[in-house]
Amino acid sequence: MNAQLTSIPASALTQTTIRVARVPHYGPPNVIVLGRAPRPALRPGTVRVLVEATTVTIGDARIRGARLPRGFGAVLRLAFGWSGPRQQVLGTELTGIVTDVGDGVTAFRAGDAVIAVTGTKLGAHAEEVVLPADGLIVPRPSGLDVKAAAAIAFGGLTASHYLDRCEVKPGERVLVVGASGAVGLAVVQLAKRRGAVVTGVCSAENAALVERMGAAHTIDYRAQDPFADSADSPQWDVIVDAAGTAPYSVCRRRLAPGGRLARVLCDLPGLLLAPLQGRLSGHRVIAGVTVERKEALLDLCALAARGDYEVVIDSVYSMDAIAEAHARVDSGRKRGNVVVLVG
Ligand SMILES: NC(=O)c1ccc[n+]([C@@H]2O[C@H](COP(=O)([O-])OP(=O)(O)OC[C@H]3O[C@@H](n4cnc5c(N)ncnc54)[C@H](OP(=O)(O)O)[C@@H]3O)[C@@H](O)[C@H]2O)c1
Repeated sequence: MNAQLTSIPASALTQTTIRVARVPHYGPPNVIVLGRAPRPALRPGTVRVLVEATTVTIGDARIRGARLPRGFGAVLRLAFGWSGPRQQVLGTELTGIVTDVGDGVTAFRAGDAVIAVTGTKLGAHAEEVVLPADGLIVPRPSGLDVKAAAAIAFGGLTASHYLDRCEVKPGERVLVVGASGAVGLAVVQLAKRRGAVVTGVCSAENAALVERMGAAHTIDYRAQDPFADSADSPQWDVIVDAAGTAPYSVCRRRLAPGGRLARVLCDLPGLLLAPLQGRLSGHRVIAGVTVERKEALLDLCALAARGDYEVVIDSVYSMDAIAEAHARVDSGRKRGNVVVLVG
């Protein structure tokens, strides 16, 4: 994978404050305030990155609106802050240019183009970030454009995590519910690459996109219940539910012997029950937070650079219009990823 080396604008090296988008308290997209914050300090073992682009993910929108699946409300407020997020600058993924490296850093140098995940530490909706050099930060392949690089991690790492945990094998029948979202489109592509035969559940408008990403078939959830009982109802080896409409009670009769249900979107009761559910029927129910792995990010970057993985972009906004980007995510209708150009 060839990394890019890019020249750094002189203004980026001298400024004392940086532009950020803040969420001072939980609420609708118009709570977001654009302003300036002190430039973060470079410490030993860290790199400073000038952010070119980031995303607004469903995770950012959920934190901003304090809108979590049933049972997680108090967990969110304990983890992120009671009346508003303690870390007011949201954003979990970014791409940009390294402008400076701290003592002891040898893996990166000024001018390197990188892709980074801040994860639950957030902070990517900013002009600059300072990140641990040994964190989730990788070279940006030269074949990858900035918008795709900004959005490669969230859906792709979630899909990789759940496909690994489901141990998807060649020839298995995989049903992806919510196939046109950031996570669903990644699951469709990566499951197909593992040799699975993929069916996507999506609305009719998104069927062509989901099929282009690798689904052999699609089911329009507005026209047909994918889990209805009928004589010829298909059985699935793996069901990946990224829409939250397929709890085990709803889809268990459609799981083949040895079948796995991945509840990517899951409420707290479902998370607590998951290890027990399906045992008597020989099924496995898998839920929980994605573990974001550097190897998985490198694999995604290599695939995308070769043209074997597509980061689907729903829409692109400027930093000035980041509230509109949040509103688009809130609509629940985005197809793939919402990108924000920062630089
Ligand atoms: N466990 C974890 O660690 C983890 C990590 C990442 C994400 N997640 C969760 O995974 C979920 C999916 O994330 P995402 O980024 O892919 O969401 P997203 O992009 O916001 O999903 C939007 C898509 O969902 C489709 N959709 C809406 N209702 C549907 C339904 N009933 N059936 C099928 N498709 C439906 C929409 O298509 P139409 O317009 O055609 O309806 C739209 O394309 C989120 O709720 C997120 O919280 C969990």
